[in-house]
Amino acid sequence: MDLGFQGKAALVTGAGSQIGFGKAISLMLAGEGCDIVVNDINAADAEKTAAAVRALGRQCIAIPADVTKKAEVQAMVKKAIAACGKIDILVNVAGAILGGGPFPEQSEDLWDREIALNLKGTMFCCQAVLPHMLERRYGKIVNISSGSVRMAHPMVSTYSIAKAGVELFTKQLAKGVIKNGINVNCVSPGWSLTNFVKGDKEEARQRFLPETPIGRGTEPEEIAYAVTILASDRAADIVGQVLDVSGGSVM
Ligand SMILES: NC(=O)c1ccc[n+]([C@@H]2O[C@H](COP(=O)([O-])OP(=O)(O)OC[C@H]3O[C@@H](n4cnc5c(N)ncnc54)[C@H](O)[C@@H]3O)[C@@H](O)[C@H]2O)c1
Repeated sequence: MDLGFQGKAALVTGAGSQIGFGKAISLMLAGEGCDIVVNDINAADAEKTAAAVRALGRQCIAIPADVTKKAEVQAMVKKAIAACGKIDILVNVAGAILGGGPFPEQSEDLWDREIALNLKGTMFCCQAVLPHMLERRYGKIVNISSGSVRMAHPMVSTYSIAKAGVELFTKQLAKGVIKNGINVNCVSPGWSLTNFVKGDKEEARQRFLPETPIGRGTEPEEIAYAVTILASDRAADIVGQVLDVSGGSVM
């Protein structure tokens, strides 16, 4: 099935991690015919992903930027549009659990940093790209939240609350812009085999076996499939949805 990505251009944030979702998404979209702009706070890692995309024969540049800094995000989007002539697709991957612990021990600083990275960063990127998408009356935005929103883990409540904000932001934005030809949706991963679970993949596999109905952690490519479908024109009628990809951990 042709998903219609030939000639499209996508900006993927947080795509530097060499075993993360962002790289898997960049490679999958490139494999479907998309040119890619790779963002990450880590310039060297972003360049590694960009080189892997170019090896597939697609145009790709790396633009390092911190998504929590509005001015950097605005400059990144300007640069991306100058390089590709347009941005058809924005995938907001940059995010992380920055700390945890029981609630009374969670500092104000942790709350601020979790919200800044996981929620505000996504908002800044959408805000920077939307005028361009509105002008062209075309756009696909896919945000990444987390199954932790519905698992309600007390040890990562700040992170989960920030990701819950991403899901509500997705819906409110989606309703506001769908008449302008812009789809906004969200993929919510469960326990996944990336940097996130820190440590050896096989050890992680064993650790998450009892927690996931499917009996294993999610592979980055499985998140990339979901993002690719939602970013395609075939998903034009899917608006403001949160798609859990978690091997049944969240139903
Ligand atoms: N892996 C999981 O189990 C899991 C589960 C649910 C949700 N998620 C979410 O998926 C997304 C990606 O997770 P991952 O597992 O690929 O993580 P990862 O750590 O492998 O990759 C995240 C990337 O984001 C980059 N980054 C961090 N702060 C940034 C900033 N301020 N600006 C730009 N880039 C920044 C990092 O350098 C890194 O390359 C995150 O939003 C995470 O919250 C992950």
